[in-house]
Amino acid sequence: MGQVITIANQKGGCGKSTSTTFFANALHSKGYKVLLIDSDYQRSIFKMREAELENDESIDTDKLYPVRYYPANQVGEVIEKEQENYDFIFCDIPGNITDKSVIGILSMTDLLVILHDANSVGIASTLDFIENVKTGVIDIVTKLGFDPPKVVNLIARLNENLRLHKMFLNAKENVSEFPWFEHHIRDLQSTFGDMSTIYPYNHSKYNYEFDLIINELLDFLKP
Ligand SMILES: Nc1ncnc2c1ncn2[C@@H]1O[C@H](COP(=O)(O)OP(=O)(O)OP(=O)(O)O)[C@@H](O)[C@H]1O
Ligand SMILES: [Mg+2]
Repeated sequence: MGQVITIANQKGGCGKSTSTTFFANALHSKGYKVLLIDSDYQRSIFKMREAELENDESIDTDKLYPVRYYPANQVGEVIEKEQENYDFIFCDIPGNITDKSVIGILSMTDLLVILHDANSVGIASTLDFIENVKTGVIDIVTKLGFDPPKVVNLIARLNENLRLHKMFLNAKENVSEFPWFEHHIRDLQSTFGDMSTIYPYNHSKYNYEFDLIINELLDFLKP
């Protein structure tokens, strides 16, 4: 049975879709069967895949993992149908995690990764969001009679040289609601650029670091 992984965040543009593709690409390149479901009305990942295929006709589509778009209210059904065909199913969800159809996705999610943008000002929005996940997601999913997802925190877009980011890391130490990834997704703009649904994250220096994050993800998914 494939495990369902969903990344959520406290504000738009914090790197949710990009990080989803990092994880999907990495697990796919390690040989796992991956399905990526884009259910955000912006269709960022779905459009990215289309553009990548249009720009390079030599890409062998048989070697890629599928990226499909469904409106959020159809995703549950798709997961039910596809779960036995994949090791991991990633869902990119619309911003509002308490929306009814998003709750439907989260009730089928095994691991909910709260992605914290280290560029956000202070940790206040992070705390609000964690509270929102607790009362708006975990409690509701449980009331609906489903097993709630395991929740973990991950910091993205971290530039360890910046004072703001040091403050963020310190503040994190005081938040014990859900476990945190020990490693962080760096601010990669200068070395990496935009998201891709095709190429593994291949900057050698950070490749090692990203492997550590993937290992942590796999550990969190263990029963
Ligand atoms: N780790 C990172 N380092 C640097 N830039 C990043 C990183 N992750 C994402 N970005 C950049 O931030 C912008 C927003 O990223 P992305 O679209 O993944 O965010 P999102 O949370 O999915 O946004 P939305 O809320 O609109 O769905 C993009 O320009 C992307 O290239
Ligand atoms: Mg997005």
